[in-house]
Amino acid sequence: MPSNNVYIEIPKSHLIRLKNYISDIWKIDCTISNDYILIKDVDLSSLLKRIYNDEIKLWRYITRIYPYNSETKNYEEILTLQFQDKIFRVVGHPKEIEDKLLDDLDDKYELNPKTFTHYLSTIFLAQNYFYGLYPSHLYYKRPVDSFDPISRAYYKIYESISIFNISIKKDWKVLDIGSSPGGWVQYFRNRVNSIIAVDPAELKLKDLSGIVHLQKKVEESLEEIKKYGKYNILTCDMNQDPREIAQTINSLSQFMKSDAILILTLKMIFKNKQNQESLVNDTVQILSKEIKNMKVKRLFANSKYEKQLFGVFL
Ligand SMILES: C[S@@+](CC[C@H](N)C(=O)[O-])C[C@H]1O[C@@H](n2cnc3c(N)ncnc32)[C@H](O)[C@@H]1O
Repeated sequence: MPSNNVYIEIPKSHLIRLKNYISDIWKIDCTISNDYILIKDVDLSSLLKRIYNDEIKLWRYITRIYPYNSETKNYEEILTLQFQDKIFRVVGHPKEIEDKLLDDLDDKYELNPKTFTHYLSTIFLAQNYFYGLYPSHLYYKRPVDSFDPISRAYYKIYESISIFNISIKKDWKVLDIGSSPGGWVQYFRNRVNSIIAVDPAELKLKDLSGIVHLQKKVEESLEEIKKYGKYNILTCDMNQDPREIAQTINSLSQFMKSDAILILTLKMIFKNKQNQESLVNDTVQILSKEIKNMKVKRLFANSKYEKQLFGVFL
């Protein structure tokens, strides 16, 4: 059985993050090749299971995958595969190659994108065709996410909890600042008993029972925040200069339990990379008065101008 290699297609903006995730979290060697992730000598069935069952729903970001076990410069070679007695589907890239394959195979063999028993995977990169014929159970079909979060921000907290290895306990008190429209609150609502959400804007959750919403700025809510404390975790997704937020967080540390967790979205208010780096360093520096074990990561769910900070209150 020839070994399988796989090209994974993902938006360019997520390429490096995916490469790091596959190497660091899945512990699978991979490289970036021609703007794709390339994994060599992989068991396709296990890889697909891994993608479908991934903790952070990695499949949300993966567009297509192209497994291959053959490589050629000669297009005609692809047409010599054993297509007989099969119903198949063509998965090709770029689109012109897919169309050409469909044209060339359509007359002779049975093609059906729904009832296929096999699929032909072909990707043309750097003047080479990488191709293979696979049974339909090894076809990657991006799942439909039946869950409809209140905001896309939901996935930032979802991913943070997983990536930073946080075990949430039901009896935790969560202080979420900058909560509207409520994705993070939605994440916590069935996981903990007590949530204090602070934001002058509205929460869009249908049922707010069990959630205390302080509908004003965090700076104006200190008395009430104190009243409901102390908290096990402080989460903050406020759209404000992270250095200012760091000062606010330091002032809230008195209401946190020791070893409480901090999850903070750092909004990159500068476009320039160097300025962004200084911004992160300055924020970490300010926070270091009250926070230890800080880690900063770019999550899949982070936008182009965001990073995620994890830390533990002293
Ligand atoms: C990106 S949104 C938060 C999204 C939220 N995490 C979710 O899951 O839906 C940023 C929020 O921060 C709030 N915000 C900005 N400055 C604030 C402040 N000083 N105090 C409280 N909330 C603030 C804004 O009103 C806005 O709703």
